[in-house]
Amino acid sequence: LHVAVLMGGWSAERPVSLMSGAGVADALESLGHRVTRIDMGKDVAARLAEAKPDVVFNALHGTPGEDGTVQGMMDLMGLRYTHSGLVTSVIAIDKELTKQQLVPNGIRMPGGHIVESESLFEGDPMPRPYVVKPVNEGSSVGVAIVTDSGNYGQPIARTTPGPWADFDRLLAEPFIKGRELTVAVLGEEALAVTELLPKTGFYDFDAKYTDGLTQHVCPAEIPDGVRDAALAMALEAHRLLGCKGCSRSDFRWDEEQGEAGLYLLEVNTQPGMTPLSLVPEQAKYRGMSYPTLVQRIVDEALG
Ligand code: DAL
Ligand code: MG
Repeated sequence: LHVAVLMGGWSAERPVSLMSGAGVADALESLGHRVTRIDMGKDVAARLAEAKPDVVFNALHGTPGEDGTVQGMMDLMGLRYTHSGLVTSVIAIDKELTKQQLVPNGIRMPGGHIVESESLFEGDPMPRPYVVKPVNEGSSVGVAIVTDSGNYGQPIARTTPGPWADFDRLLAEPFIKGRELTVAVLGEEALAVTELLPKTGFYDFDAKYTDGLTQHVCPAEIPDGVRDAALAMALEAHRLLGCKGCSRSDFRWDEEQGEAGLYLLEVNTQPGMTPLSLVPEQAKYRGMSYPTLVQRIVDEALG
């Protein structure tokens, strides 16, 4: 096959996408495929038109590669591509739209509301502890966790324009105390539950991508009922949003509440494929090598 690997781009997650893309491209080459690596710039349509690949492996994260824009362009060009399509991507990149889709269908997610960044200079948008996050970023970019004892993450500046001036819309949510879990869905199957144990602070950008800063426990050491509930919720969210190929759902679990304490935070339609990423790790736990995982995602796109 001739596979074009789309990576890079200009979102805040550009460095992560370059790592994902390099891993995917190397794996495809090791499988004997012809690979065109495309670091996405404004000329991406022209470069894809010139390459004429059999399929595009989308290794982009964030805007515009995860938000439907690139998907719509590829639809118009008649290209086949991995992961979710236009409508799913538009909804899943936006944490507020995701809630509107999933909560009425029985998926438990934290409450919360959109806040204006200016209002944060004046005071707390809800009782502490709470989280403020951009509605459409990944990798914990721009996330603040505000508790009575302090703020772990992005500082909430008391001056304008403030640290959030770059983000379109912000969401404030009650902070779910407890444990951080994640579940990958590949095809029509939830793979496993991983628990993330950051050594300091929370599972932020540095903890996600610096080797040794977070312990990954796969399979998570949690009761069977909670494991099964997390697997089922991730699969149901994948289906309700119409995800394709592969997705990864992130959770918080308040163990004092048992299974009722499991909250889905978001669904990632372009989950990371870096050496420290969670989907490859769960695939490995299920007996699938990284190249086999990449091939499976390509097969889903062609199927
Ligand atoms: N947003 C990052 C890439 C992830 O979900 O893995
Ligand atoms: Mg995310």
